[in-house]
Amino acid sequence: MRAIASINGECLPLAEARVPALDRGFLFGDAVYEVIRVYRGKPFLFEEHLARLRRSLDAIRLPYTDFDGLRQRVLRVIREHGFQEAIVYIQITRGSDVSRHHVFPEHPVPLEFFYVEEFHDHLEAQREHGVRVITHPDWRWQRCDIKSTNLLPNVLAAQAAREAGAYEALLYLPDGTLLEGSRTSCFAVLGGKLLTAPAAPNILPGITRALVLRLARQQGVAVEERVFRVADLPHVTELFLTGTTSEILPIVQVDNQVIGNGQPGPITRSLQRAYRQLVDAL
Ligand code: PDD
Repeated sequence: MRAIASINGECLPLAEARVPALDRGFLFGDAVYEVIRVYRGKPFLFEEHLARLRRSLDAIRLPYTDFDGLRQRVLRVIREHGFQEAIVYIQITRGSDVSRHHVFPEHPVPLEFFYVEEFHDHLEAQREHGVRVITHPDWRWQRCDIKSTNLLPNVLAAQAAREAGAYEALLYLPDGTLLEGSRTSCFAVLGGKLLTAPAAPNILPGITRALVLRLARQQGVAVEERVFRVADLPHVTELFLTGTTSEILPIVQVDNQVIGNGQPGPITRSLQRAYRQLVDAL
């Protein structure tokens, strides 16, 4: 896949990109990131992603401020290398120190890494017919609202899903509360209402989640930011995932539980159409 990277403003092919072994992103996961979808050469919801990047940086007290420069560098790589359908991955780390210490370096010099990579969307059929997912315990920490690169619990849950032949793992708390997927947000239709976990420190405030909430309200759907549980699944009539690359992906089965009539439902379909219209108008 064609991919161009930039490290502290220097461009090179992604396969040749290197960071120092003492980089704190590598040693401690002391880093935050974003993933942005590019459609027809245009980044989708770019400002929203940059705003969340800023919030993540503030939350871990990482003194990186060059958002205008970053925006220009990303746009330049997309333009100069002729990317059309692509993703942008951005990661800012707290940089390197002279040796490994948990505490921050006295004068941290952040590392800015991003790449733009061609993206082939293989999810058309799944968006049409829906996917199967599994449930998995949520083993993450108490600040999942920070988009940090500490993704081991997400990685293990995603791998469990893959080994079960499922698309995604829905993460649940000890009381059965379903929060989100390993790399996606999750919505349910229950009692005629569209539900998703409230924006709180135990979920990532998804950019696609916020857009879908807005679209649903515009369509007159009754929306509530309220959690639902594993025990609710037999009564859930529609269930779907949202995310930057997944977009809006219907779920037709969770573990052994078929959702609704086993087909993507009308609210999911109408949100998918509205999403597509926005992308087409970009
Ligand atoms: N994942 N929840 C989690 C835990 C996520 O990691 C993501 C994004 C989302 C969806 O957020 P958004 O709509 O802003 O993409 C929800 C990215 C894409 C990733 O890790 O690759």
